[in-house]
Amino acid sequence: MSPTDVELVAAANSTPLGSLLENCQTGLSPTISSTLYNLQTLPSETLDWALDLVKRNLYEQYAAAKDTGWSSKDKLAEMTEENALYVVATEQRPGGPAEKVGFLYFQFTMEDSCDDEGDPESSDQESEDRQAPVIYCYELQLETGYQRRGFGTYFMDMLEELGSKYRMRKSMLTVFKSNTAAIAFYQKRGLDRWNITEQPSTAEACRAGLV
Ligand SMILES: CC(C)(COP(=O)(O)OP(=O)(O)OC[C@H]1O[C@@H](n2cnc3c(N)ncnc32)[C@H](O)[C@@H]1OP(=O)(O)O)[C@@H](O)C(=O)NCCC(=O)NCCS
Repeated sequence: MSPTDVELVAAANSTPLGSLLENCQTGLSPTISSTLYNLQTLPSETLDWALDLVKRNLYEQYAAAKDTGWSSKDKLAEMTEENALYVVATEQRPGGPAEKVGFLYFQFTMEDSCDDEGDPESSDQESEDRQAPVIYCYELQLETGYQRRGFGTYFMDMLEELGSKYRMRKSMLTVFKSNTAAIAFYQKRGLDRWNITEQPSTAEACRAGLV
């Protein structure tokens, strides 16, 4: 009997960290490496850096969005949800300390479809039935000096490879409508099924057909 959608998500979430990336393309460059963490292994100073990087990159967009605003407390709560998984890239410079490049924060989860399936007037039960197993990109953030050098592409390739490996049906993410640079990046990748969320300042995008 094939597993249900919920069982697929549960299986992905219970995969030991050490084998989650097995057989995935994880090579970056001789000096840049990436490490996978869950909340039990993520160093607290790395979480502090990640939260600070989100703030440095997107504070103005959060502040301008009347429906969200910036709250470090709320963002930290979102970044420490139970099944959070992080990939953190660092660069080892000769003779110097390792420098953080950026990170991807994702979860395997059940989510409403991000496309035209279903009727907006449908009941809660029908909408629950429409949920699909997805790999959800909660954050993709690069230090300024590492942007536009292919690292975002690297992280998104890894996300979609993992989604496919664990039989998630879609990859999904939320982006500020004002974040035209990120939207250009996601559109270049072919994530073009945009969905207007309940919050007016953001939109969801997805790529269907990972499996
Ligand atoms: C958005 C972000 C993740 C993209 O990652 P990246 O490593 O800079 O992007 P890549 O180098 O892989 O870009 C791949 C392609 O996407 C498009 N793209 C990327 N950044 C772009 C930008 N600022 N403007 C227009 N197109 C862009 C380009 O077509 C690019 O190809 P090219 O460089 O050959 O022209 C990264 O710039 C970032 O961290 N930005 C700040 C935080 C942020 O907005 N995160 C997204 C939150 S949803």
